[in-house]
Amino acid sequence: MRKIVLAVLAVLALGGAARAESYPSRPITIIVPFSAGGPSDAMARILAERMKITLGETLLVENVTGAGGSIGVGRAVHSPPDGYTISFGHLGTHVANGAIYKLGYDLVTDLEPVALLPSNPMIIVSKNAVPAKSLKEFLDWLRAQPKPPIAGTAGAGSGSHIAGLYFENVTGIKLQYVPYRGTGPALNDLVAGQIDLIVDQTSNSIQQVRAGNIRAYAITANKRVESAADIPTVDEAGLPGFHMTLWSGLWVPKGTPKEIIAKLNAATVDALSDPAVRKQLENLGLQMPPKDQLTPEALGAWQKAEIAKWWPMIREANVKVD
Ligand code: MLT
Repeated sequence: MRKIVLAVLAVLALGGAARAESYPSRPITIIVPFSAGGPSDAMARILAERMKITLGETLLVENVTGAGGSIGVGRAVHSPPDGYTISFGHLGTHVANGAIYKLGYDLVTDLEPVALLPSNPMIIVSKNAVPAKSLKEFLDWLRAQPKPPIAGTAGAGSGSHIAGLYFENVTGIKLQYVPYRGTGPALNDLVAGQIDLIVDQTSNSIQQVRAGNIRAYAITANKRVESAADIPTVDEAGLPGFHMTLWSGLWVPKGTPKEIIAKLNAATVDALSDPAVRKQLENLGLQMPPKDQLTPEALGAWQKAEIAKWWPMIREANVKVD
């Protein structure tokens, strides 16, 4: 009996190794938990184009939206651990949501980290109708509003929502949130003057700022962004210390073979080392992760550290979700 069990295990292991060996043999899906046209979608599509060269297979972006990105991540968690489903996410979906939603999955133990991706500071932007030319004037305008100003987000727990909570925390200004399925559509409504502000990812708003369709007041970092050097930091603009960087990453379902994770990691590192890809991403205000932070283990450690850092503030905000 023992011999039969060992033989079966050997066959399974051989099968797994053979599958890892021939991986990938069909298109791979990257689940982006926010709507098309937003910052997560934009980065995923730029990477997918370049990763297909290393992997020799197409990577398809599928937008599965809702509940601050937790629905799309859930879809990935419950996918077969065979390397053909990748979860694209960030500080919101793979950290914050764990402190807000009853997810039905564990962000650390039900997913395997693949690679840390570029990050970007947030940017405080408003509709053009706001008569403010500096952050100080904008804060005065927000405080003078009879009702809580309307802030667009990508749903409770999303990066733009966590940034809004943090903004309320440091300014004492109460905001009313309007959730969208991504900051892509939220930005459209800001350009149209339907909402008052977004504390958005720089990579999402920067082109509309450059086009003069929205107003930018400051970025949430202590150093200016090279590709947006005309926009002051919060420290320069009068909200010292309001620092927030939204980082992204790739994960796969728990149980995905290590060899396959190594192949996906290598393809990601290749893409992030490609000068044309870097130029595209840096032009959006995105900053590359340090080289020594590109291992799957580094993402795992970083995610745990961010959970320890952000969950207390998020829990204190007592976010209500249906
Ligand atoms: C998006 O792609 O829409 C964003 O990542 C959403 C967010 O977290 O603010």
